[in-house]
Amino acid sequence: MSKIVAELLQKFETRQAQVAVLGLGYVGLPLVVVFAEAGYRVVGFDVDANKVDLLNRGESYIEDIPSSRLAPLVSSEMFRATTDFRVLAACDTVSICVPTPLNKTGDPDISYIVHATNEIAHHLHAGMLIVLESTTYPGTTTEVILPRLCEGDTDCTVGERFLCVFFSRTG
Ligand SMILES: NC(=O)c1ccc[n+]([C@@H]2O[C@H](COP(=O)([O-])OP(=O)(O)OC[C@H]3O[C@@H](n4cnc5c(N)ncnc54)[C@H](O)[C@@H]3O)[C@@H](O)[C@H]2O)c1
Repeated sequence: MSKIVAELLQKFETRQAQVAVLGLGYVGLPLVVVFAEAGYRVVGFDVDANKVDLLNRGESYIEDIPSSRLAPLVSSEMFRATTDFRVLAACDTVSICVPTPLNKTGDPDISYIVHATNEIAHHLHAGMLIVLESTTYPGTTTEVILPRLCEGDTDCTVGERFLCVFFSRTG
């Protein structure tokens, strides 16, 4: 097991990992709640300031997540939402849950993933885990995400400096 995987596992086992979820929609918000209820401090990022304000008041707009479930996580400071991507610098792991609507040709529009990745690249640090959860086509991690995360770093080896995975939801 590599050193950064061992260190990250240790942070998860001790609930010290600072978790980030990028995109607080139908996928991202339930993920936030599951992490926070499991005892992890979670920062949620979204570009929609109104949504961020609403969530920071403990008010959910997603049917599956009643406000009565979200509000205690806000008041206990297990969850907070922000539009300030600089906070990513303090996060150990970030799950990308931005939209990928189908375009005219039926292919996913990955512009939201590109924008999210560019923000992460600014604040990437050693040991960080990046998880792509958005629905997309095979190759997005290697062809779209990794080149951006590695830009300007001639010695960039995923798995040694940082970790990047694709998480596929089925069913
Ligand atoms: N909804 C589902 O049941 C479901 C199931 C499986 C997979 N997916 C996939 O998960 C992904 C997210 O879907 P969703 O339904 O949660 O979308 P959504 O539209 O409900 O939520 C996406 C959120 O991301 C935010 N966002 C957009 N660009 C951003 C950026 N650059 N940085 C931060 N936040 C940003 C939006 O403001 C929005 O709040 C999509 O790829 C979708 O195909 C969705």
